[in-house]
Amino acid sequence: MSRALCLGVETSCDETAVALVDDGRLVRSLTASQANLHSLFGGVVPELASREHYRYLGPLFDRLLLETEIEPRSIDLVAVARGPGLLGSLLVGVAFAKSLAWSLNVPLVGVDHLRAHLLAAGLTGELIYPAVGLLASGGHTHLYYIKSDRDFALLGSTLDDAAGEAFDKIGCALRFRYPAGPEIDARAQKGRAAYNLPRPYLDNDNLDFSFSGLKTAAINLAGKNRFKEGEIDDFCASLNLAIAETLVAKTARALDGRDAASVWLAGGVAANSLVREKMADLAASRGLRFIAPPRELCGDNAAMIAYNGWALARRGLEHDLDLEAIPRGRKIPDDYRASR
Ligand code: KG4
Ligand code: ZN
Repeated sequence: MSRALCLGVETSCDETAVALVDDGRLVRSLTASQANLHSLFGGVVPELASREHYRYLGPLFDRLLLETEIEPRSIDLVAVARGPGLLGSLLVGVAFAKSLAWSLNVPLVGVDHLRAHLLAAGLTGELIYPAVGLLASGGHTHLYYIKSDRDFALLGSTLDDAAGEAFDKIGCALRFRYPAGPEIDARAQKGRAAYNLPRPYLDNDNLDFSFSGLKTAAINLAGKNRFKEGEIDDFCASLNLAIAETLVAKTARALDGRDAASVWLAGGVAANSLVREKMADLAASRGLRFIAPPRELCGDNAAMIAYNGWALARRGLEHDLDLEAIPRGRKIPDDYRASR
């Protein structure tokens, strides 16, 4: 399939999203965020998330068609995030995608949400292999060695909190709205990294991360001090620096002794200005290309799902309608079948 209009569906966590990608280029991407609802509870409530996906997905799809003036029958392929994620949330998107693929009589492709984050950079630029790629989001902190869009070797991951989760939980202690990463980043721009926070889990020779110690140290520090406005900004700058330096240190270690042509960064935390800057500096210092999606495609979105679905279909890979949703913690099976 060389030219294909691919619909992407994303419901793995708390963003309901649909997008159209035509021959690998973005047509339109819509996201309905549930952040306001979940912020009441300081984090995502799974039961509420699936109910909201169920409410929003149909109307969001209708709006996508209306805004692009595209008829459903023009869709050549349906791609859906099949995991990892919250099972109830994934099931809503997967059921929607299956029904649509069946009714339009077009192929269905299940997409790995984590790979889709990293490959999203292909929507706006060239993906250069082999690469060392860091995926840092609210649920994951994974380092990969990537040889092709189908060959991802996991080098290391977090043993406890993900980088985005650390931002969110520390932000919660400061009474910032969930998710707190964007506000911490914005305040960090106005502050100076005056507080000394730990760069956790660097004194070892592996490529795993651990952010729980930093989280506890930061929450204790915030609890002990009654920060004045400017001091909060300094604290945020210190936190941004501690997390960015930790992520970069392990990515640098992953590059040592590996043949890589580029360094990739993706996931919600890839929108962080300092993480982006320091990862780009690392790539430049090694003479490598730095590859990351534009900021608006770093967080959960359906454009990345449609793009990856299109790329898989181009390789002749798709799924049957018995495609399974895979919750967090279970390995995503390589169960594609050749297209008919
Ligand atoms: O990729 P994503 O949208 O959802 C998951 O798959 O988890 O990532 C969301 C995470 C949240 O933890 C949020 O606080 C964080 O990305 N985030 C940021 C920034 N923008 C989003 N963290 C730090 N700085 C930012 N600018
Ligand atoms: Zn994600």
